[in-house]
Amino acid sequence: EPSRTLMEYRLLPGYTTDETSIDKISLETTLAWTPEGEQELKLNIPVVSAAMQSVSGVEMGIELARLGGLAFIFCSQTIENEAAMIRDIKSYKAGFVDPFYVHPDMLIGDVFEISKSKGFNTFPVVDVNHKLLGILTKNDYSGTHHAHLKVSERMIPREQLVVGVNISDIKEANKLLRESHQSVLPIVNEEDQLKNLVFRKDVRNHMNYPLELLDDRKRLLTGAAVNTHDYRERVPALEEAGADILTVDSSDGFSIYQKQALEWISANYSHLPVIGGNIITGKGFRFLVDCGARAVKVGMGGGSICITQEQKGTGRGLASAIIDVVNERNRYFEETGKYIPVVADGGIVDSKDVTIALALGADYVMMGRYFARMEESPTEKIQLSNRIMKPYWGEGSARAREWKSARYYQMKFVEGVEGFVQYAGKLRDNLPETLSKIKASMSSCGVTTIREFHEQAELEIVSALSIREGKVHDIYMPNDSSDYKSDKY
Ligand code: XMP
Repeated sequence: EPSRTLMEYRLLPGYTTDETSIDKISLETTLAWTPEGEQELKLNIPVVSAAMQSVSGVEMGIELARLGGLAFIFCSQTIENEAAMIRDIKSYKAGFVDPFYVHPDMLIGDVFEISKSKGFNTFPVVDVNHKLLGILTKNDYSGTHHAHLKVSERMIPREQLVVGVNISDIKEANKLLRESHQSVLPIVNEEDQLKNLVFRKDVRNHMNYPLELLDDRKRLLTGAAVNTHDYRERVPALEEAGADILTVDSSDGFSIYQKQALEWISANYSHLPVIGGNIITGKGFRFLVDCGARAVKVGMGGGSICITQEQKGTGRGLASAIIDVVNERNRYFEETGKYIPVVADGGIVDSKDVTIALALGADYVMMGRYFARMEESPTEKIQLSNRIMKPYWGEGSARAREWKSARYYQMKFVEGVEGFVQYAGKLRDNLPETLSKIKASMSSCGVTTIREFHEQAELEIVSALSIREGKVHDIYMPNDSSDYKSDKY
């Protein structure tokens, strides 16, 4: 049986009813196996971004988690930098602003100058002990007329304000704001010391993110990659910074180095789930799970920037790899009762590929190229032959390896390339469309959850000609008269 790619499969429709309409479909999925008694680890959407320099930085980490997924911050950087990125994501609190405060004896004229240089005009007023005394909003002062007055003469005093005490939930803050006449809500602690501000306009924005992926302290979830060289130093720093899940970043996880890393992490940080990988066989799956992996990443050689198959001749079509590993996962589940999620990684181009990977039994997918095209990836946009592009390079490319010491890389050849992908805009303007296509496929197949999809999906291998037939053909289609857009580059 030759090795199959995702492209070679199509789904046969199941029976669609009101019960399987798109609005009834949940894309929630298991992020990692969780021991009994601990809080279950879930994703609200079945996509994570690849641990790559040109994909997953702080902005991606924040925006993808706000949309229900998760980024894996890359480990091809110093431990300090990676930990700082994790801290930035964990300390991001949508809607809760760190206040810039003023004191009551300051002159309005001085506050006006600060306002001009900082670009905002709402100032909470505090005493020397940080206790809230009032608030000064743009309606309360005129930079010219009141310049000689003190802040205390123009502020709305504490007694007249609606204030939140120890609130960390944006919905609770919203409730108070709704009942008040204020455009901003100060949050204080039980000693009345000012902690944050919540702005009405930010709350409205926040309501656009109903799938936000949060931990029990209402912080965004984030993943972090580790390598098999410095995990003894890297893992403690990432754990301290607040990483929720780790992934061992390796193109070939069936190795003693991966075993050592997984066993060390599981023994010393058993509360921190770790994804093992990558593997492409049932044997590889058993190996990683026995070493302590709580999810397993599948794929070798399929990545868009990847040349492992060409360079080393190792690899497998992603569909065959998923099928083999999922069969072993299901056997393992029957034997032990432990459900280990399978992550499909490398070569997933569009929503249809995600759908087929899920139908074959994957629990979620990791993508690099898809996310590299977005505004939130860490690279700069450039113009190339009338197109806006973003650079994208493999972690095994010469460019990504530059930071590493020769000790890490004895190999004399590269395993990845560097190129460009077409800029696609903001993640929030792209991901919902991708997800709605996945939901539409699930609806057609008559299922409402990813687990049902695993059990009930009927797939067929298609011929090359049949794939051709399924594409646009025999029609003249001027570019500007169609809203069908290809995202191939
Ligand atoms: P996509 O197709 O989504 O693939 O861009 C991203 C995945 O590719 C893997 N990766 C590499 N594989 N050489 C490789 O052989 C590389 O330089 C390289 N960089 C990333 C990785 O699994 C990633 O998630």
